[in-house]
Amino acid sequence: MSTLRVRVRRGDAFEEFDVPRRESQTVLDVVTHIQRHLDPTLAYRYACRVGMCGSCAMTVNGAPRWTCRTHVDQVAQGDRLEIGPLRNLPVIRDLVTDMREFFDKWARAQGRFRGRSRRADDFARVAPASAARRLADAGIECIGCGVCYAACDVVAQNPAYLGPAALNRAWTLLNDARDAAQGERLRAVAGDAGCQACHTHLSCTERCPKAISPTAGIAGLKRATLAAALRGEL
Ligand code: SF4
Ligand code: SF4
Ligand code: FES
Repeated sequence: MSTLRVRVRRGDAFEEFDVPRRESQTVLDVVTHIQRHLDPTLAYRYACRVGMCGSCAMTVNGAPRWTCRTHVDQVAQGDRLEIGPLRNLPVIRDLVTDMREFFDKWARAQGRFRGRSRRADDFARVAPASAARRLADAGIECIGCGVCYAACDVVAQNPAYLGPAALNRAWTLLNDARDAAQGERLRAVAGDAGCQACHTHLSCTERCPKAISPTAGIAGLKRATLAAALRGEL
């Protein structure tokens, strides 16, 4: 069995660990091995281990990734791995970032569904083949992992920028025929920290583990906010 040489970011410094390499080993397996067998004080976060919860994202050899679905064979450079916390977020300890600002931005982008139906109403029928349904479905599988947010250089330069995940969520709801907060949501994403700040770098889209394109959603928001402004609604 060969050995992986793993550098783990801990505060301002890196610590090195030797971890046995195994078949089908994920980056999360490596971190778990270190915490269970080499240093129980290592802090990291995960929950589902199957790509559902979005809590295990870290920086792996320089790029943000979900670690439970990233195999060591995909990312190791020879026998070397470097693991750190996600970029663009405050670090609580070791590999654990504070996600509050990330999710506060979802709230600022009006990222929650606001229905207009009442309990006694029949349920809404949205045709699966409709364009709006297609656009809404394109971004619905977001797991809130923060990978796109960590990949975005505009977030790095402008901490007020709402970022790709919150804007993707706003776009998804904007295309939800049942939602009743469209005007409010467009106003929320139209400001300086909103969709116009995106430089279309595509890093978010390249990195999203769920194959979502926040860039496409943000382009849609740019068009929608411009049209609303021309109608005098913003
Ligand atoms: S496309 Fe926009 S949101 Fe995505 S990484 Fe680039 S600047 Fe950030
Ligand atoms: S859009 Fe993709 S990368 Fe961004 S939070 Fe959602 S799942 Fe993660
Ligand atoms: S542990 Fe849940 S997505 Fe990785």
